[in-house]
Amino acid sequence: MRIISIANQKGGVAKTTTSINLGTCLTEFGKKVLLIDMDPQAHTTIGLGIEPNELERTMLNVLEPNRSPNKLNMEDIVIQMTKFSDGNLYVAPSNIDFASAEYKLIDQIGREDFLNIGIQNCKIKFDYVIIDCPPSLGILTINALKASHEVIIPIQPHYFALRGIEEFMETIKIVHQNLHHFLEIFVLVTIADTRSNIAKEVIEETRDFFKERVFKTIIRKNISLVEASSQGIPIIYYNPKSHGAEDYSELAQEVISFEKEEVSTRLY
Ligand SMILES: Nc1ncnc2c1ncn2[C@@H]1O[C@H](COP(=O)(O)OP(=O)(O)O)[C@@H](O)[C@H]1O
Ligand SMILES: [Mg+2]
Repeated sequence: MRIISIANQKGGVAKTTTSINLGTCLTEFGKKVLLIDMDPQAHTTIGLGIEPNELERTMLNVLEPNRSPNKLNMEDIVIQMTKFSDGNLYVAPSNIDFASAEYKLIDQIGREDFLNIGIQNCKIKFDYVIIDCPPSLGILTINALKASHEVIIPIQPHYFALRGIEEFMETIKIVHQNLHHFLEIFVLVTIADTRSNIAKEVIEETRDFFKERVFKTIIRKNISLVEASSQGIPIIYYNPKSHGAEDYSELAQEVISFEKEEVSTRLY
């Protein structure tokens, strides 16, 4: 089981779009995938056509303190997306109530490990678990990082894009030092206007710094991706011929290729 967080404390860099569409594209290659929505804004949940306010069971139940009567196992809250992907796609949904997980965890022993334990105890086994993180470096993101082997950092190629992830890289180092948890880092360039010179420069700079840890696949700016998420449909179903569908499908293949190939660059 590969567990991958999609994280960056900056909002609007396509964390959610990447979670939904990488997750769905992986199922096209026969993988069984769980998408975990760790953001109280519930955009992954909504982006799959689920109405968050009608949910009785969410990720909040999984992260409840151990003695809480509301505590549930992961397999009790996941929804199998039978509309898509031959039933190989599952989502662990969220809604605005999930915001309270943050303070419920504050006084818990081992609070960084609640998600990790939730995933490890899940009775359904998956090939991939993709975790969509909130745009912050709080305890929810730390839980996601601690549960993951790998983290994909989406960046939009603007000036200062790299400076923006310095703080995030610091967090990854602290997770290593203080929680003794090592993460493989990957960077994904998203929402790229590949004709713009700024984008070209930033992509080059990103490759200089992160080397082979930057995915070869670049996610081009594509309006179909915006439409698809507003319709609650993954891009490969909404518009399979779009650049968005092409790019995310290529990304899924690249992610799968790392099942065999090791990446040697150590970043920290
Ligand atoms: N490749 C893309 N081209 C154009 N718009 C995109 C692309 N990827 C994402 N978007 C749009 O950008 C906005 C932010 O994306 P989102 O995935 O919600 O980011 P985050 O989860 O990091 O906040 C959304 O409106 C989304 O539809
Ligand atoms: Mg998001």
